[in-house]
Amino acid sequence: MFFHLFTVACLIFYANALDNGVARTPPMGWMSWQRFRCLTDCNLYPDECISDRLFRRTADLMVSEGYLDAGYEYLIIDDCWLEKERDENGRLQPDHIRFPYGIKNLSDYIHAKGLKFGMYEDYGTFTCAGYPGILGHLEVDANTFAEWGVDYIKIDGCYANVEDYEAGYTEFGMYLNRTGRPIVYSCSWPAYLESSGTYANYAYLSEICNLWRNWGDIQDSYGSMSKITDWFGKNQDRLIPYAGPGHWNDPDMLLIGNYGLSLEQSKTQMALWAILAAPLLMSVDLGAIGSEEKTILLNRDIIAINQDALGIQGRLIKTVANIQIWSRPIMPIVNGTHSYAVAYYSKRDDGHPYAITTTLSDVGLSHQSGYLVTNLFEPVLQEPQSLKISEDFIVRVKPSGVVFFKFTPIP
Ligand SMILES: *[C@@H]1O[C@H](CO)[C@@H](O)[C@H](O)[C@H]1NC(C)=O
Ligand SMILES: *[C@@H]1O[C@H](CO)[C@@H](O)[C@H](O)[C@H]1NC(C)=O
Ligand SMILES: *[C@@H]1O[C@H](CO)[C@@H](O)[C@H](O)[C@H]1NC(C)=O
Repeated sequence: MFFHLFTVACLIFYANALDNGVARTPPMGWMSWQRFRCLTDCNLYPDECISDRLFRRTADLMVSEGYLDAGYEYLIIDDCWLEKERDENGRLQPDHIRFPYGIKNLSDYIHAKGLKFGMYEDYGTFTCAGYPGILGHLEVDANTFAEWGVDYIKIDGCYANVEDYEAGYTEFGMYLNRTGRPIVYSCSWPAYLESSGTYANYAYLSEICNLWRNWGDIQDSYGSMSKITDWFGKNQDRLIPYAGPGHWNDPDMLLIGNYGLSLEQSKTQMALWAILAAPLLMSVDLGAIGSEEKTILLNRDIIAINQDALGIQGRLIKTVANIQIWSRPIMPIVNGTHSYAVAYYSKRDDGHPYAITTTLSDVGLSHQSGYLVTNLFEPVLQEPQSLKISEDFIVRVKPSGVVFFKFTPIP
């Protein structure tokens, strides 16, 4: 009886998933935090400080370097854009030195480029970096964001009581809805619960938020990235049911192009974020990024997997000789059978590319006539063109790297 009630409740929540028409696929774009943090001294760091200049320069590069064409459309200002005080009418205002033309002017510039515009605030009394939070001003702030033409808002959870999150994020979401402007609503509240060992209510989150930061922030290192994927693997049964068009789990920003990941590790992040149906939010100096890293970010086949219309979050299916095998059902469906994206990710650190032999049935694929194979990072390599499900095939995976395939059923 108990179980039955629980199931019914889940179905009802699911049916009520947030219906604001946006984020039907995981949001793609650029967000300032991971790379630029809270650099506010524009005399010392003129090219890196959180400022109008940084965002206009990034908007220009997103367009001229092909990121927008590839799908990266949201340009999102994270923390540290505010004045320390609200204006005389109690409204949020940007730092006047770093944003001399105001937010609406910057937003217009970004929109004129064909991009969408995102911002950051915090549910509590302060943002994590100590700027004014929205608590006590939820309605006026929702209206301000809509007037500024904001298309995406990330609401962090610093300086707030854990027991207020549910009602507070719900209320702010209601004010966003009342503005009439479709705004992607990113909620950081689960990260504060899960990081202290409390399970978040994802059924409810999927009803009020378009995406949610599940766990700790990513830092610019392989160790940080791999801790996050470990956590997503371990907790996948709780998370996967609540990912889908309009509502996504968020393992945090892409590190690709910065200091902490090797090239192989960068491929690993791109592949696993595609498997996880994760938002693809770059956080990198687009004027300084290396060409190989740029190629990884612009890999259209992998972006297509991330953006797959079914919106099913993939999972860690098994680990063989310390090589993790992650798999995600995707389009096209052929003769009633899904295609799959499958990533072989090495957790090994012992030198040479390690070879494992598996069959498609070993990785859960069962279409009797077999599958067409695409190697997504090296499409012209000597992989077999097609595979029967019982045929052995050998995959060599570099230490901390990935080999990433798409398998399409043969009709
Ligand atoms: C507001 O919520 C209603 C009910 O879910 C929905 O139909 C509508 O599209 C929402 N509007 C916006 C702007 O989010
Ligand atoms: C504000 O935006 C308009 C239109 O993009 C632009 O012409 C104007 O120069 C901007 N104002 C300032 C002070 O930059
Ligand atoms: C798959 O469907 C096609 C027609 O859509 C049919 O010709 C073919 O026999 C089917 N193959 C299998 C293995 O069922």
